[in-house]
Amino acid sequence: MTHPIRYARLGYAALQVTNLAASTRFYAEVMGLKIERADAATTWLRCSDKPYDLVLETGAIPGLSRVGFELESRAELTRAFDHIARVGLFPAWTGETSFRFSNPETGLELDYYADPPLAALPYEPALTQIVRLGHVVLNVANYADAHRFWVDQLGFEVSDHVPGKIAFLRCWPNPLHHSFALLTGERDGLNHFNFMVTDIDDIGRAMNRMKQADVPIVFGPGRHLPSGSIFLYMLDPDGMSTEYSFGMEEFPEVGARPPRALEPKPEVLDTWGSIADPRFGQTGAIVSSHV
Ligand SMILES: [Fe+2]
Repeated sequence: MTHPIRYARLGYAALQVTNLAASTRFYAEVMGLKIERADAATTWLRCSDKPYDLVLETGAIPGLSRVGFELESRAELTRAFDHIARVGLFPAWTGETSFRFSNPETGLELDYYADPPLAALPYEPALTQIVRLGHVVLNVANYADAHRFWVDQLGFEVSDHVPGKIAFLRCWPNPLHHSFALLTGERDGLNHFNFMVTDIDDIGRAMNRMKQADVPIVFGPGRHLPSGSIFLYMLDPDGMSTEYSFGMEEFPEVGARPPRALEPKPEVLDTWGSIADPRFGQTGAIVSSHV
């Protein structure tokens, strides 16, 4: 396949939350992100040297309001803009180095940008060794539409899939097995978003920290079959699912193995055999206003 867009990385997720103070406290004091900036309606948090990786915005219902992807360069951003306009997705520049557009089926707003500034200070992990915002996973009511949008139009590569049901997508040529994924569900919405940690001890310590803070653990600890990562899922104050994971397969830009077609069985989600709580991946509407 030819690649119309060269991605650097998943940049950030913006969430709408119903109690900004409670969610800010949770992501800073329990999950371990650093508060970079805050005003009455928004908190910007980071787990990298960029100014934000997670944005919390006050709103009436919990949900996912925007996903940002960093592209490799300004030249690639311009090339991507032209491509996205050509396929009929109506991108609009929001600055010299950023543009936004929406998925017409779900209304999810996407922010594509290049050359983001660095934060004033380097990121120093404190509570837990977060290395990056790892991935965002959507529940999709129409898998075929979602696959067409993310793979055919936006140029994401399938790393592994359960045909017709689940797709683990990497933002090529970023090597990580998945920075985004689609899960067939009853309705469009957020399934979960993930923070990758550098050490398996971070998973074990997090489990105890969550228990002490009365944070519901809704899946794991366990190991995902497709990526090989060890995971732990929790609920945030609105009931949205968030995850720590350790380890992930990486792909070369050229000569990557083809995607595996996996069977739809529980071991795909956890080879250790834990069963997800029914609340896992259920809360979080798509709340983008820009459609
Ligand atoms: Fe995940």
